Amino acid sequence: MSLLQGTAQINKRGQLEIGGVSVPELTARYGTPLYVMDETLIRENCRTWQQAVVNHGIVAYAAKAFCTQAMCRLADQEGLSLDVVSGGELATALAASFPSERIFFNGNNKSLEELELAVQSKVGHVIVDNFLELEMLEQIAARSRKTVDILLRICPGIEAHTHEYVQTGQLDSKFGFTLENGQALAAVETALAQRHLHLCGLQCHIGSQIFALDGYAAAAQTMISFFATIREKTGVILDALDLGGGLGIPYLPDDTPAQVKDLVQTVVDAVHNSCQANNFPVPKLIFEPGRSIVGPAGWAIYRVGARKEIPGIRTYVSVDGGMSDNPRPALYGSRYYALVANKANAPAEETVTIAGKCCESGDILIKDIALPHLEPGDILAMPSAGAYQYSMASNYNRLCRPAVVFVRDGQAYVVVKRETIADILRNDIIPSTWEKSKEKLSVAR
Ligand code: LLP
Repeated sequence: MSLLQGTAQINKRGQLEIGGVSVPELTARYGTPLYVMDETLIRENCRTWQQAVVNHGIVAYAAKAFCTQAMCRLADQEGLSLDVVSGGELATALAASFPSERIFFNGNNKSLEELELAVQSKVGHVIVDNFLELEMLEQIAARSRKTVDILLRICPGIEAHTHEYVQTGQLDSKFGFTLENGQALAAVETALAQRHLHLCGLQCHIGSQIFALDGYAAAAQTMISFFATIREKTGVILDALDLGGGLGIPYLPDDTPAQVKDLVQTVVDAVHNSCQANNFPVPKLIFEPGRSIVGPAGWAIYRVGARKEIPGIRTYVSVDGGMSDNPRPALYGSRYYALVANKANAPAEETVTIAGKCCESGDILIKDIALPHLEPGDILAMPSAGAYQYSMASNYNRLCRPAVVFVRDGQAYVVVKRETIADILRNDIIPSTWEKSKEKLSVAR
């Protein structure tokens, strides 16, 4: 599968162009490292999801994949709901005037302050993860004389075929009420007994970057059987089933993930079959995709710097970013692809390893990739960078987070300014009683 997705193409000058703007031009204007997002493709992905679920339910974009005010605004313009997992993501959505009734608030350890913000801002649904949260939310709702709509996060005991760190539905998981040991049913009974909470349905999420759809079918079936058990034990018919996110995207040219419509069809079929078997009314479905909406639309752009050749062993080419703007290779062993944006048609001549500039041997963005000969100043572009990169970026080594630029129809818009050293230093405090020590200073020299 070509990783030149959306509007990305190689122009007549042999340069990578996204949204009708050449990447070398973008780097000249905005510097590097830089995240470039293909706005047209993000909107297209939103619409693909919307069309796939029409008649079945709704799509709540999982903001954790890429959360900025512009992205929240875009999701609103496209009619999506929003899944947030912290007060920070919620505040971002509210700052972008995202309608709070279309927000779902996930998370396994929401604080009192976060729950209060959720209730005060009239978030549509809180997805309650544990008993402590049930208790806190009931108290806040009672104090505010409000009824809060909730879903319960259920751990269905299903292992998705993906990296262990991004599996979430298996029995041994920190997330949600466990189905297997009766905890989930106890949670439903507790939730139903609360005067200020209205239980609308259940949620589960089996993992992320998933290619095989069988885990979704299994999760859907397990959840519907549980809906039937709840009816049997309590007489209550829940009518919303949230199956989380997790659809994988291509990172390498040979990756062939499932299509959105196939995932939705798999879930819909499993839900319908299961409902029929249990004589249960089909609930409204909720999907929470993150990566599949923004991932393929993003590019991480770097400038090539130093080169180190170890004859017979390896050639390292370093770029001006690294694990600070993309921790995924170091964290999950994620593999990436790249092309040289200023000479995108040049043939591959050598195999190199792309290293970041952080002080860690593990700061390798790509191990062994065949590329044209790289010179200092060349521009390296890594596709599939729209999800979990900006949102997971750090200031390790006091590097500043890159700017984020949206491109569309030949225009570029900065949606996140490049962080500056002043931004980082702003929060530092030297205790006021600590004097500058001239003596120590001279010793250090
Ligand atoms: N809903 C829930 C409850 C989730 O926990 C997640 C992701 C999503 C939806 C969205 O899943 P997506 O469609 O984006 O796969 N940092 C990791 C991924 C962590 C995913 C966490 N939860 C990575 O970079 O691969």
